[in-house]
Amino acid sequence: MTQTDRAVRIVEVGPRDGLQNEEAIVPADAKVAFIEALAATGLQVVEATSFVSPRAIPQLADADEVFPRIRRLPGVRYPVLVPNLRGLERAEAAGVDAVAVFTAASEAFTQHNIGMSIDGSLAAFAPVLARAAGAGWWRRGYVSTAFGCPYSGDVVTEAVVDVSVALMDLGCDEISIGDTIGVAHPDDVRRVVGALLARIPADRLALHLHDTYGRALENVEAGLELGIRIFDASAGGTGGCPYAPGAPGNLATESLVGLLDRLGYEHGVDAEGVVRAAAEVRASFVPVS
Ligand code: COA
Ligand code: ZN
Repeated sequence: MTQTDRAVRIVEVGPRDGLQNEEAIVPADAKVAFIEALAATGLQVVEATSFVSPRAIPQLADADEVFPRIRRLPGVRYPVLVPNLRGLERAEAAGVDAVAVFTAASEAFTQHNIGMSIDGSLAAFAPVLARAAGAGWWRRGYVSTAFGCPYSGDVVTEAVVDVSVALMDLGCDEISIGDTIGVAHPDDVRRVVGALLARIPADRLALHLHDTYGRALENVEAGLELGIRIFDASAGGTGGCPYAPGAPGNLATESLVGLLDRLGYEHGVDAEGVVRAAAEVRASFVPVS
């Protein structure tokens, strides 16, 4: 195996996927400090916030204030979630240069999350991705509920492949395959990722695994064995699981780093810095009464 075969890129999603799933209010200052501290640990991608409806995600309603204040490090990418042209315009005004659009492999989830059908979401993203491409922005597509849906249960492999290929055809540089409710077993990772690899190169696929049932790390290992080298994770495991109160949600970045170290993969991330950043943002949480 060559050196590059051992290089893993971690996509830090704590400031977005993490904070949007915390009930507490987090002041904008603390968000900016969290993002800056994470980038300083060597992470190459720090997903910063979402330009979505503030009604849908009140926790990130301050995106217009937070994003322009980040002191960006060279070589670090700071993508933001955008659901529509309205979000893209806000992102443009804030100085963004990397976006993520998000849909799902389950119709029921897509409907609950963004009020659209899967096809409807793809139609909504097409102009967003085209305009982002025209501006030279990096583009990511999320496929949630790839291993199971909180509303409709099982999800067929074909549905995951179809929506992933559609996102790639719309110009996404990278597709992140999400186990939104943490139900995947390693065999499911092999089934779904195996099918995806027949259509999408490994270097354009990421895994977004949740640790709800404690299987995230074994699922990462299954992904690594299949050649996946991009994994999403959240500092301190920030963001519980909205569908299973009290259960963990996002895989913790420091746990992922620990696994990669044990298996001899390179990641370039200072895990202690990640833990410190997560503790600091948690200390700023204002409980909602
Ligand atoms: N930024 C700010 N406000 C926005 C917006 C955006 N990108 N898109 C829509 N809105 C506002 C509208 O102006 C409208 O406001 P109003 O009620 O005060 O008039 C309201 O949001 C609803 O807009 P509408 O176009 O009717 O869309 P909708 O209610 O069907 O919502 C989405 C669709 C996609 C905008 C909304 O569901 C959303 O933002 N979802 C994000 C969910 C999310 O981030 N999930 C986590 C990621 S997996
Ligand atoms: Zn997540």
